[in-house]
Amino acid sequence: MSQFVQNMFASISKKYDLLNDILSFGIHKKWRRKSVQLVSPNSNSRLLDIACGTGDFAFEFERYTSNIVGIDFCEEMLEIARQKANKRNSRVQFIQGDALNLPFEDASFDIVSIGFGIRNVDDVNKSISEMYRILKPGGKAVILEFGQPKNSLFRFVYNIYSKYIMPFIGNIFARSKEAYTYLPTTAGAFPCRNDFLDIARKSANFNNMEYYTLTFGIAYIYILEK
Ligand SMILES: C[S@@+](CC[C@H](N)C(=O)[O-])C[C@H]1O[C@@H](n2cnc3c(N)ncnc32)[C@H](O)[C@@H]1O
Repeated sequence: MSQFVQNMFASISKKYDLLNDILSFGIHKKWRRKSVQLVSPNSNSRLLDIACGTGDFAFEFERYTSNIVGIDFCEEMLEIARQKANKRNSRVQFIQGDALNLPFEDASFDIVSIGFGIRNVDDVNKSISEMYRILKPGGKAVILEFGQPKNSLFRFVYNIYSKYIMPFIGNIFARSKEAYTYLPTTAGAFPCRNDFLDIARKSANFNNMEYYTLTFGIAYIYILEK
């Protein structure tokens, strides 16, 4: 499974950013910005962005702190992130590694983030317990992920969009109908709201957990405080 996910992201890495902009009408930028604001990093915050992909979540955090590591297991996605970092004189360090076995000591980060990554990992519980392990006491995990809209009419329209229009556009721009069928299908099935918080509760011993609804429930931000 993880090899399938790795290969899939490798195959769409060059078109990933473009497709994010097209398919979300640019709204993903607002979602990232809000996620960053909710954990209010300061200039001393040490931050790990897990499943960093092409780096956009890490770059959004860099407005506040320059002490950032991005980690992903797909070298092709990291290569795009590094090229973007060079162009913008970013100091984010991008390294290859697995969200399920983070190469960091316990209690070594103030903030960990994962944007649209947690539904792609093989073991969600293990991924959350790894985030907990590397956070300092009082540190925060911010998880941005798709879910399902609450309103049934909106959900119906969104399901049509993700089932038919996304694969069609993905095929035109990224030559990958498979990836842009997989991505919305997993989003449509991923536990959200309190169902996700229940998973987080079973995975680690966070003190506070809350969620925020984005754009009628297409996506959610989860904040977990250690
Ligand atoms: C949808 S992309 C999200 C990229 C980026 N965070 C963003 O907000 O655009 C998902 C990323 O998760 C990465 N990924 C999936 N499972 C992983 C794992 N076990 N360890 C590290 N990265 C993983 C993929 O390689 C891919 O780059």
